[in-house]
Amino acid sequence: MLVQLCCLCRFWKDEIIGQADAGLRDLLSIPTNYHILFLQGGASLQFSMLPMNFLPADGTADYVVTGSWGKKAVKEAKRVGGVNIAATTADGGFTRVPSLDEINLNPQASYVHITTNETIEGVEWKQEPATGDVPLVADASSDILSHAIPVDQYALIYAGAQKNMGPSGVTLVILRDDLLQRIPDGLHTMLDYRTHVENKSLFNTPNTWGIYIINLVCKWIKDKGGISAMERENEQKAKLLYDAIDATDFYRGHADADARSIMNVTYRLPSEELEKKFTTEATAQGMDGLKGHRSVGGIRASIYNAFPLEGVETLVSFMKEFERKNG
Ligand SMILES: Cc1ncc(COP(=O)(O)O)c(C=O)c1O
Repeated sequence: MLVQLCCLCRFWKDEIIGQADAGLRDLLSIPTNYHILFLQGGASLQFSMLPMNFLPADGTADYVVTGSWGKKAVKEAKRVGGVNIAATTADGGFTRVPSLDEINLNPQASYVHITTNETIEGVEWKQEPATGDVPLVADASSDILSHAIPVDQYALIYAGAQKNMGPSGVTLVILRDDLLQRIPDGLHTMLDYRTHVENKSLFNTPNTWGIYIINLVCKWIKDKGGISAMERENEQKAKLLYDAIDATDFYRGHADADARSIMNVTYRLPSEELEKKFTTEATAQGMDGLKGHRSVGGIRASIYNAFPLEGVETLVSFMKEFERKNG
């Protein structure tokens, strides 16, 4: 009886994983030579797992650092092998992505790593950097499923589920098949991507409920009209906020106009005192979580896929009224 139950349980997990796989494949047009893995440990574990699998101790990987999460990825990669900071925008306070001619790529690098959307700074890549034959890898934790991405330009994409895909506790990895040949033997079983490819994300007990929710979220996006419809809605929401910021000198956007995130809108007010007043009064009106990360300060409005247009409209009205009273 117990054996039968276990078989049934495995069947359901297989089924649930298969559906989420199909949902994501369909939405993001993921080619058949890519594996989709549902892992645990968050995007943070990918900071380590990625170099452990693909960065030899005597090799180097290129990292383009556009914010706080990219810095964390670098820290872990350095424990494994050489890291070349191919470009960083730290100098200006991470307000932009580097232009393509600023990026100093090493043609011998094991891979190039970018963070497609820096959640804390609100800085987002609008176009993939051309990396030639060197595999491009992205941490897409905070903008996956928010807009279309050319998956075939990447060798590996990883993302924590918790922003746009589902609950925390599931990490998505989209991995091109040919990369598997580069993985050295001798890694810990759980930290070797091949384990999860060979076992279809069922080597150990997966977060089945989280993966089930990812499938429902894929259906929800599909019902809205797919990724392009989701992207249009996100652009519309972000534009409302950025227009409100640009309409006045009272608010000052953190990111340069051509690198503005459509997920995390970061901006400053004339003083820290006013910023504190702004978040306190916004919270009192039911708009919580607007305080920016301490490394950037100011305000951060995270307007992920699930955040409604009406919520942005309410925030914009509040901003106008706040400026009228305090400007
Ligand atoms: C861009 C980015 N990378 C990595 C992480 C870390 O993700 P996790 O908490 O899943 O480890 C986050 C979390 O917010 C993030 O926004």
